[in-house]
Amino acid sequence: MKILILQDRAAGTRRAAEMICDSVMRRPDGVLGLATGGTMEPLYAELVSRHREGRLSFARAKSFNLDEYVGLAPSHPQSYHSYMDQHLFGHVDFAPGATALPDGSAPDPHAEADAYEARIVAAGGIDLQLLGIGRNGHIGFNEPTSSLCSRTRVKTLTESTRAANARFFGPGEEPPTYAITMGLASILDAREVLLLAFGKEKAPAVRAAIEGPVSAFTPASVLQMHRHATLILDQAAASDLELREYYFTVHPDGAPAVV
Ligand code: F6R
Repeated sequence: MKILILQDRAAGTRRAAEMICDSVMRRPDGVLGLATGGTMEPLYAELVSRHREGRLSFARAKSFNLDEYVGLAPSHPQSYHSYMDQHLFGHVDFAPGATALPDGSAPDPHAEADAYEARIVAAGGIDLQLLGIGRNGHIGFNEPTSSLCSRTRVKTLTESTRAANARFFGPGEEPPTYAITMGLASILDAREVLLLAFGKEKAPAVRAAIEGPVSAFTPASVLQMHRHATLILDQAAASDLELREYYFTVHPDGAPAVV
């Protein structure tokens, strides 16, 4: 794993945007794996501004999102479909039909999950998968005890995840209980993965993911098994890491290793 420790959230976001731009320029017809959540909002804003400046085009790219709530139609304001339209798709130049999320309103969510996994495979797999991390160590909606071999499927959300995501819902609205999420093995199939974690509240999960044992109890620890995983952290998210000085020496301010 490459652990890049940046000064703050803004610097980490810029570094991640550079990596995504490089990936899209290297492979303009590549397949991106996208995530939602608070961490991604400034990143998508940065990608939108690079697109507006004419420095980034998604015209030939495809994308697959990690997850979607079961029971929310794509048009629901809190669906991840709406989130992606609001923060990215509505402002950049993906071709019609080039972006995909699981359909949380499908009559059979289990069949929808299977079909979604098959669509990713049919597209040739994911070149670069973006990830955030939950305070409990989840990636996508793979909650603790998710099988390390899991594929896209329906998962029950933990109360802590529902409580963390309640901020995106209006007063009196409950976050859904179930989601369709890519599995941990589906994520490991991506040719490259990029996880972003910012803020002190993510520090324990980051520590467990990087320096703890590979364990279904910390789903993000499965990234230790990936050959091309980069984790971009700010100082606060890196603050519990035992070897943080070492990671910083190898990649000062997130720079590439010199050797
Ligand atoms: C969302 C997703 C989740 C989030 C994670 C962190 O598509 O896959 O794993 O990345 O819950 O969320 P934030 O960024 O809101 O802290």
